[in-house]
Amino acid sequence: MKVGQWLIRLFGGRLGELEELRSVQEEVVLMALPAEREFAGKVVRLREIEPADRDRILSFARALPEHDLLFLRRDITQPEEVDSWLADVASGNYSTVVALVGDELVGYATVAQDGMTWTRHVGELRLLVAPALRGVGLGSLLIDQAFAIAKTRGLQKIVAQMTVDQEGAINGFERLGFRKEAVLRRHVIDRNGELHDLQIMAFDAEEFAQMLLRERIRAAASVETSGAPF
Ligand SMILES: CC(C)(COP(=O)(O)OP(=O)(O)OC[C@H]1O[C@@H](n2cnc3c(N)ncnc32)[C@H](O)[C@@H]1OP(=O)(O)O)[C@@H](O)C(=O)NCCC(=O)NCCS
Repeated sequence: MKVGQWLIRLFGGRLGELEELRSVQEEVVLMALPAEREFAGKVVRLREIEPADRDRILSFARALPEHDLLFLRRDITQPEEVDSWLADVASGNYSTVVALVGDELVGYATVAQDGMTWTRHVGELRLLVAPALRGVGLGSLLIDQAFAIAKTRGLQKIVAQMTVDQEGAINGFERLGFRKEAVLRRHVIDRNGELHDLQIMAFDAEEFAQMLLRERIRAAASVETSGAPF
């Protein structure tokens, strides 16, 4: 048994948890697109977004429930907002993977950068899955793809924003090591003028690596002082 594995077994708990998170992150790789996967008996095709998706996006957005529309930075029920999204993709600030069943859009994942100098290391993940296909794993696959895109872009910090009741999104991001970084009270206003708390989840690659290293050093030091058998 390797020393690292032995330490994990011995100290379990925090180091084990961090190692497990790291291995989950390492398993997340950008799929060769286009790709097909089956969810709930439906063949879902994933590919990069294209300018010709404009009308598909509009139809998808216009069929969404009101609660979902809250989480869109852009009101993509409006053609000019979709055009501006496509322009951000063309400029290289955004990367988007879309999921389709037949000719219909059923979800997307975007990695968005704001183009500002001082946040050039930060990307925001934005995800949306059609209500009819939720809870069957498509969101997790899209979260993985967005995370993989963020890694290939060399981003150091990745954030995701949601209201506190979006348990599906919170679970999905936590699986990859995202943690709650802030709650901005009454930060989101919906179409009816109601206010909601906004939760910001973040993953900081450098901070995560440092945390792992610190835990390893701490574990190794406890082994030395307890006179472990090697
Ligand atoms: C967030 C979202 C993309 C998840 O998509 P999905 O296809 O339902 O996700 P999955 O089926 O892969 O489930 C992801 C995780 O959330 C859990 N989950 C899904 N729906 C849930 C719910 N309503 N309550 C609690 N947990 C839920 C799943 O069990 C899974 O957890 P696990 O990995 O521990 O098993 C989807 O719910 C959505 O589009 N929500 C509206 C928009 C939004 O919240 N976007 C996130 C902000 S960026």
